[in-house]
Amino acid sequence: MTLPSAPGGPPPEDAAGGPPVRASPGKILVVDDQKNMRATTAMVLRSAGHAVEEAEDGAAALRRIGGEAFDVVLTDLRMPTVDGMEVLREARRLAPETQVIVMTAYGTFESAVEAIRRGAYDFLAKPFREDELLLRVSKALEKRRLVGEVNLLAGEFRRRYGLEHIVGRSPAMQELLDRVVRIAPTDATVLISGESGTGKELVARALHVASRRGERPFVPVNCAAITETLLESELFGHAKGSFTGATRARRGLFEEANGGTLFVDEIGETAPGFQAKLLRALQEGEIRRVGESTPVQVDVRVVAATNQDLRRAVAERRFREDLYYRLAVVPLRIPPLRERREDVALLAVHFLERFATRTGATKTLAPGAIERLSAHYWPGNVRELENVIEHAAALARGPEIRAEDLQIEAHAGTGPASEARTLAAAVEEAERNAIAAAVARAGGDLSRVARELGVSSTTLWRKMKRLGLDARAAGGALQD
Ligand SMILES: Nc1ncnc2c1ncn2[C@@H]1O[C@H](COP(=O)(O)OP(=O)(O)OP(=O)(O)O)[C@@H](O)[C@H]1O
Ligand SMILES: [Mg+2]
Repeated sequence: MTLPSAPGGPPPEDAAGGPPVRASPGKILVVDDQKNMRATTAMVLRSAGHAVEEAEDGAAALRRIGGEAFDVVLTDLRMPTVDGMEVLREARRLAPETQVIVMTAYGTFESAVEAIRRGAYDFLAKPFREDELLLRVSKALEKRRLVGEVNLLAGEFRRRYGLEHIVGRSPAMQELLDRVVRIAPTDATVLISGESGTGKELVARALHVASRRGERPFVPVNCAAITETLLESELFGHAKGSFTGATRARRGLFEEANGGTLFVDEIGETAPGFQAKLLRALQEGEIRRVGESTPVQVDVRVVAATNQDLRRAVAERRFREDLYYRLAVVPLRIPPLRERREDVALLAVHFLERFATRTGATKTLAPGAIERLSAHYWPGNVRELENVIEHAAALARGPEIRAEDLQIEAHAGTGPASEARTLAAAVEEAERNAIAAAVARAGGDLSRVARELGVSSTTLWRKMKRLGLDARAAGGALQD
């Protein structure tokens, strides 16, 4: 090891030439059976402000890791009896938040790659320079901090998305919740289907919280919101230089979700090439970053969601059959609100209570209002109901919400099923007009449009795509 700058000198530059890395101090364990190497490494880290402990071999390291929490473990790979791989394995098992950096001798690059594959955060090839050591350690500390923040949120997360927040007493919802509770502890892949706004994401989060992965990250990815190429690098990560603009290597959401749940939303919108890659990841439990051939092992439960009829998509060859069966190990269908009308009033009251907690204003529903809510077709399902209630609660002058305070279309889609096709065309026409008008009003600000229309941005985006509407064209039309 060479020491080009004196300990305590200026902090090292980021490898990409960015701002100097902040040396937020951490608790570090240095494991090396070579005394000189160990002592020098520890000294450099101490002089940068870190609290450093030393272990003279693998067995000593295991004792320490079992006894106290380290932010970063820096371990040599080749040691007699208990080697670095075993230290890595035990650290991952006992203290998953600890970030492990392995030190390898010159010419043993393969073992470093193997260590990364098994969950090491990074590696350092001996001999390394002081600034290189400090940089890698501070990056590992940054990662450790992020992992900690995710876990801090976990308690709040649990309360917010726990099963107790899924409202519904209809037999259909009871059956669904029953299935959620039974399948949550398994690692089975789940496919959630249901119309827009039925609560697919809510159920996915509940599945996660109720599973053994509940304290680990829940990582949502929306397949409809980005292009296929971007989606791939977003999910699988990419190597530096793998495409124009990839100025540095990046880990994907699959790796971010390690130990937790990856929520693949709008899976029906994906292209066959992407579907093939996802299938491989599910089958092999490992992924490859774009532009890299070495696989990375991941321990992730995948929960997918769609508002499409995927079986029909399979029949029409828009969706890979093998992936469908892989995903639908456990299918969960969330019934639309019109199939569980007994939940409408319950949900309405739930949203009113939430409104009261937030604003302090308690409002009740007049009998006429409940009747009107129960008779509505609810094309936008629970989200639409949520919106209607929020609106009415905010606008109603008195403490009671009357039927006429509810802003819902009286005739939206209540026709018989035999008229479905023509009705669908009529609904489409109405949707196209409503969206185009709202986009024009909002000057192309799509999140404002989504809020105004009471749909998620995703739903809006999807609908606009299907209806052939273009945000800029619509916004431009307003200015003309
Ligand atoms: N059973 C329920 N109890 C309470 N709130 C619910 C329920 N179902 C849905 N919601 C609420 O309705 C809204 C829509 O739910 P969510 O985003 O999970 O639906 P989604 O099916 O994913 O919609 P989209 O298809 O538009 O993505 C959220 O605000 C959610 O909290
Ligand atoms: Mg959703």
